[in-house]
Amino acid sequence: MTAQQTELQNLPSDLKRELLPKHVAVIMDGNGRWAKRQGLPRIMGHKRGVDALKDLLRCCKDWGIQALTAYAFSTENWKRPQEEVDFLMTLFQRVLRQELREMVEENVQIQFVGNLGALPRSLQAEISRSMAETSHNQAIRFTVATNYGGRQEILQACRAIAHKVQQGLIQPDQIDEQLFERHLYTAGITDPDLLIRTSGEMRLSNFLLWQMAYGEIYITDALWPDFDRTEFYRALCAYQQRERRFGTV
Ligand code: IPE
Ligand code: IPE
Ligand code: MG
Repeated sequence: MTAQQTELQNLPSDLKRELLPKHVAVIMDGNGRWAKRQGLPRIMGHKRGVDALKDLLRCCKDWGIQALTAYAFSTENWKRPQEEVDFLMTLFQRVLRQELREMVEENVQIQFVGNLGALPRSLQAEISRSMAETSHNQAIRFTVATNYGGRQEILQACRAIAHKVQQGLIQPDQIDEQLFERHLYTAGITDPDLLIRTSGEMRLSNFLLWQMAYGEIYITDALWPDFDRTEFYRALCAYQQRERRFGTV
């Protein structure tokens, strides 16, 4: 941590605790561009991206934010060069194995959302282990979206509900927002209050399409590996200026 980062150990005094988002989501974009600027291969950007995520998780915990969700790999990211996809899968597995002990000690509950069954077997095993070993932890709920796509999530919920209707377990009239949400990957997780996307792109890229119906969006030009506590502080300041109306006047 730099001197400035050390200063940001605790919640900055000009942020109002009662106005903090309960749930922050991040689209961690710009790893490739970061690496290119440094004259490094793209994979080095992903490696540095892990460090940025670790510090954000710690920061959320330090500042009293109850839930963090990070977009790690989209259903569209399989279209990247095989080398990069393989590197990412290996990286996820290695980081999970390395960080599990600390997450247990720090009382972090980790969970994964997405089409997990299509991930490499060894990664699936690491995911199951980390979820089981942290399931009772309460300091912060940390969700990693891996092989996640919002459209696919909605479709698989429709399929599951249709099967139940076919079996006579539910009536079509009983399908309401609450029932639908219980069939999403994010069942039981509150919707994000704030979504941060790094590196300037102004799109959702298939992330949390249902859940972001009323979430606030903050976009920064900072590339993900450069997203630090100062950047997060700026995002929270902007969030606290917003007036959330939810359709009222
Ligand atoms: C985000 O960074 C990480 C993943 C999608 C896994 P990118 O790899 O998309 O970085 P850019 O957008 O090419 O700079
Ligand atoms: C979104 O970033 C996915 C993740 C951060 C995991 P992308 O880089 O894949 O999104 P696009 O292609 O710019 O929309
Ligand atoms: Mg990108």
